[in-house]
Amino acid sequence: MKNIVILISGRGSNMEAIVRTAQSEKWPARIAAVISNRADAAGLEFASSMGIPTAVVPSKGYASREAFDAVLQEKIDQYEADLVVLAGFMRILTAPFVEHYSGRMINIHPSLLPSFRGLHTHQQAIDAGVKVHGATVHFVTPDLDVGPIIAQAVVPVLREDTEDTLAARVLRQEHVIYSRAIQWIAEGKVTIENNKALIDPSVDASQQFFFSKEYQ
Ligand code: GRF
Repeated sequence: MKNIVILISGRGSNMEAIVRTAQSEKWPARIAAVISNRADAAGLEFASSMGIPTAVVPSKGYASREAFDAVLQEKIDQYEADLVVLAGFMRILTAPFVEHYSGRMINIHPSLLPSFRGLHTHQQAIDAGVKVHGATVHFVTPDLDVGPIIAQAVVPVLREDTEDTLAARVLRQEHVIYSRAIQWIAEGKVTIENNKALIDPSVDASQQFFFSKEYQ
């Protein structure tokens, strides 16, 4: 039984999707804790209501990023995390922290990496005029938004899309692929070789990437 610790900063809809899927599918893993760097993160309430331990490690008031990351690391390690899941955790992490969780910390980024790293990814996609956009689950490495890719979901970009409509379409797919990626990791079906994440062949290829058929 693997221990999963989920880090959030706000809404927590990905965390909620993961918790619900883990519960309904009986993974060989448990959500050991949900930790936020903000006391007002809406997702904390949901986690508590599901009986999941929660903790707040406020990121304000530290002299350096390293100092905050050290406190956060101590808190995560109290829960004996096998896997750390960043789900809308709005912090740039220091290299020592990332290296401590090397190969066992993952993130979801709302674009088809390596396109559109950083913030405002949906507006970046609209401005670039791309016809497809999406989301990527990847291992976290010290450089932002570039780690080995585990799963991707593709959605259409429509002529009338705004940042908000496109974000909503992508988010629905985020909730699908993040849970799938975590399930594969919990089942030991993901390995990293030459900086690439390899998915065990027992996972159906059609499950490894998602083409959304929805146009709303
Ligand atoms: C998601 O769009 C995720 O891709 C990005 O931050 C957002 C978090 O949303 N990293 P939520 O808190 O999971 O609802």
